[in-house]
Order: sequence, then structure tokens, then C-alpha cells
Amino acid sequence: MQPIKIAVLGSGKGSNFRSILNAILAGQIKARPVIAVSDVPGAGMLTLAENLGVPTAVVEEMKYRTRLSEEVESGLVETLRASGAELIVLAGYMRVVKQPLLEAFPRRIINIHPSLLPAFPGLEAWRQAVEAGVETTGCTVHFVDSGIDSGEIIAQAEVPVLPGDTPETLHARIQEAEHRLYPEVIKRFAVRELL
Ligand code: GAR
Repeated sequence: MQPIKIAVLGSGKGSNFRSILNAILAGQIKARPVIAVSDVPGAGMLTLAENLGVPTAVVEEMKYRTRLSEEVESGLVETLRASGAELIVLAGYMRVVKQPLLEAFPRRIINIHPSLLPAFPGLEAWRQAVEAGVETTGCTVHFVDSGIDSGEIIAQAEVPVLPGDTPETLHARIQEAEHRLYPEVIKRFAVRELL
């Protein structure tokens, strides 16, 4: 079986991307990262990619903060198609995905979200969990659709909220779970169980 070609999109430091790269380098997942794309010039995830010789691209959006304009997203689709990517992995990508990308890769775009969806969609889900006073939260990998964190759920992992947790300590614990869960799910795509 050929390694699955993955594109990773992110806006931040790229700790999930790092966990995926580590799993690939350790031989746990047969995948090839063909491109890393960020909407944030200088994002840590781009440096990570550059250090490993993974091609990178930056999408520049001037008009909107929470999504890409149609022209820019169509350009992104071209970039992703040219890379040969079979699976689009959102890892801390902080914009809503719109039609050009959704139509180009139906059931081929996945996202990781730091809560047990459908609880706490949207921004800073770890803060929402602390403020709601729940005892358990977690992380979810799901297919991306046109809603906000609303696509079909693929896998979840639970994380306890401990007494004295701040949003930051809780987010750190959720991220440890993310770093286990996302590689496990990508492995299921790599063995074509989910493709
Ligand atoms: C992760 O915790 C991810 O779940 C979250 O952003 C963080 C990115 O961290 N994503 C969202 O909140 C998406 N709605 P990373 O850049 O270190 O992987």
C-alpha cells in the first residue's frame, strides 16, 4: 500500500503537526506530508515543515479574519491539488472552511477540536469547559463540513478536568490527548479503513 499523501493546514505552533510527523518518522503511520499550509506567515508549523524538507505555502487573506475569501480559498484548492494530497488535515487551522475547499475534497478534510463535541464548539473550547464547570472534557477528530465544528465525529478521547485547573493547564492536558488521538485516526486513513 502506498503511503497516504497528506496536506496539513494550521495557524499556530504546530504541536499536533509535530505529533503526526513523529508518528510517521517512527514508522507508526504510512503517510507522506506533501505540503504544509498556513494562513499565518511565520507560524511555527511552517518552520517545523521546513526543517524536515516538507514543502510549505502561505495563504494571504486581507479581507476576512475568520474565513478565506472565495478567490483565496480557490487558490488554496489549486495548491492542494497540485501537491497530490489525498487527505487534508486541519491542525489548529483557525478559519472556517467554505465551499471551494469542501467541494474539492468531499469527506477528505478532517479537523481536531479540543472538546468532546458537540459540547463547546468554537474558540478556546478549553476555557469554555473550565467556565462551564464540567468534570470531563476531551478532544474530537471529525470530518469537516460547512458548520462550525459540526461534521461527523470519527473519534474522541476523554480528559478529566482537575480541581484548580486553569484554562491553560487544562489545554495542556487536552493537547497530550490530541497528540495521541490524531495520529491514531490518520493511521486509519493510511490503511484505507476510512478512505
Ligand atoms: C489545538 O489544541 C487544536 O485542538 C485547536 O488549536 C490547537 C492548535 O495547537 N484547534 C481549535 O481550537 C480549532 N477549532 P497546535 O498548533 O499546537 O497543534
